[in-house]
Amino acid sequence: MRPTVLRLSATLTALSLAAVSSFAQQAGPEPARAQHAMVVSIHHDASDAGVEVLKRGGNAVDAAVAVGFALAVVYPAAGNIGGGGFMLIRDKHGNAHFLDYREKAPAAASRDMYLDAEGNVVPGMSLVGYKASGVPGSVAGLAYAQQHFGKLSLAEDMAPAIRLASEGFVLTPEEARNLHSKNLTRFPVSAKIFQRDGNFYNEGDTFKQPELAETLRRIAKDPADFYKGAMAQQIASFEQANGGNITAQDLADYQVKERQPITGRYRGYDLVTAPPPSSGGIVLVEILNILSGYNLAKLGPDRGAAQVHIIAEAFRRAYMDRADYLGDPDFNNLPLKQMTNMRYAKAWRASIRRNKPTPSKDLVRPAGFLPPPPEATAVKESTQTTHYSVVDSDGMAVATTTTLNGGFGSGVTVEGLGFLLNNEMDDFTSKVGVPNVYGLIQSSANSIAPGKRPLSAMTPTIITRKGKLAYVMGTPGGSTIITTVANDIISSIDNHLDIQAVADAPRFHHQYLPDRLDFEKKFPRNVVEQMKAMGYDTNLNQMADEKTSGVWGDSELIAVDPKTGELLGGHDSRRNYGKAAGY
Ligand code: DON
Repeated sequence: MRPTVLRLSATLTALSLAAVSSFAQQAGPEPARAQHAMVVSIHHDASDAGVEVLKRGGNAVDAAVAVGFALAVVYPAAGNIGGGGFMLIRDKHGNAHFLDYREKAPAAASRDMYLDAEGNVVPGMSLVGYKASGVPGSVAGLAYAQQHFGKLSLAEDMAPAIRLASEGFVLTPEEARNLHSKNLTRFPVSAKIFQRDGNFYNEGDTFKQPELAETLRRIAKDPADFYKGAMAQQIASFEQANGGNITAQDLADYQVKERQPITGRYRGYDLVTAPPPSSGGIVLVEILNILSGYNLAKLGPDRGAAQVHIIAEAFRRAYMDRADYLGDPDFNNLPLKQMTNMRYAKAWRASIRRNKPTPSKDLVRPAGFLPPPPEATAVKESTQTTHYSVVDSDGMAVATTTTLNGGFGSGVTVEGLGFLLNNEMDDFTSKVGVPNVYGLIQSSANSIAPGKRPLSAMTPTIITRKGKLAYVMGTPGGSTIITTVANDIISSIDNHLDIQAVADAPRFHHQYLPDRLDFEKKFPRNVVEQMKAMGYDTNLNQMADEKTSGVWGDSELIAVDPKTGELLGGHDSRRNYGKAAGY
């Protein structure tokens, strides 16, 4: 079968270049296979929800809506109705549609809202608690998707989620452990629902959420209730009573935007991906444009030092542009055309040295392409999001990345409604020039303003070849999202790993600043050593800390076998409760 052949050829390449180790040499799980349709997500119950809706006659969008609402129940760390996201759809005629339901800053938000009287950032204020939330977009986005692109009713799409909330689902050890989050303990409603006020859930327990079930039932009946009805009033009263910023007017003003996706070409494949307010698509295309001038497969195997070097240098350069230019397109003129210009990529390429990193402090942007950047600033970025991919029997495809931002968002559950609110306000720039823990820098194009959407890195991506669907891709991972999607594309297209091996391959990341090459803990040690010898400041992620997983993101991927049309699912098997489900 084809994936086996691919694995074998990758192995032979690796063996013929014996000096370098490659992840492709290790035998891993096989991709899931399906003839008609496939759903891949971080939670088995959510993937099953998608398949259930497909089997009832729904299309890929119905399934995506089902998965989205199901994740709000079974994956409360990131699945959500109190957050936002992006949905990229390729309809059965091959047309792309991009739905932006990113959160928006409330009207009461202002540039310096997270600063104290002395002008210093108040630690945690944009991350934890009532003031950290943007106006949620997920309910509007999912309802819009169903209305404009689905075949079934919203109630039919939401039925599995409502059932999972009212009848409950069984917790795995990892899920039970995740619910111990201190972020939840801080807030009484969250502590009651997710932690039974200290009598924590255990592995094997059935976790029921009756309040959330009722909220979902109300949404299924009338999604506008969340924004303009009694539910909007409930959310606003709760916010106001606790010092939050979201008002009934903010909710009434929320709108989903259909945006023109970013497009690109890479080695004969056509990419459709996320436009601003995501930085993801534009930076991804810039990375791939730079890399298109190299024959990566000839340099050595997947994850070998020669490839890692060239790819990391492309990451560094594209992230410099991300840092300096990007923000909400409704508030800024962004030089997107210039950033994806092939001559610009060529000029960047000329600055990459064969066997040596370019220190970020010495990096000089090629002149004559981009306008002068707005002032560069620093912001915090954080850690919980989720991605799911769907393909149906008509070849309709959906890639959705959705988030509360941090794990369990702001930690705040809306009283009486049973859902968590996001802390997406932290994706904005809190203060000019203040470095943060993660060191991700962004420009003043991303400063806070009422009604503005914070810059994101979420990168749902659909790839075709000669007009035929080839891949559906995406992952969470904050600033590492874009490099993970780039890694996944390179491993698939350049290095021919099968889609399950792609999802499981250990990742590497460079984001310009800090000037550091990050590796997941399973990355081949000898390659990390080679990169260090080349002059990189390397960081083998969290090796020393047994409590942290040492991995980032979870790629939830679908590939289409070009010969047979078979759908191949790749779920990041390092997360033990996800599933690639199909039929
Ligand atoms: O929109 C963004 O880019 C971030 N809020 C995403 C955060 C994230 O992916 C964390 N996931 N592990």
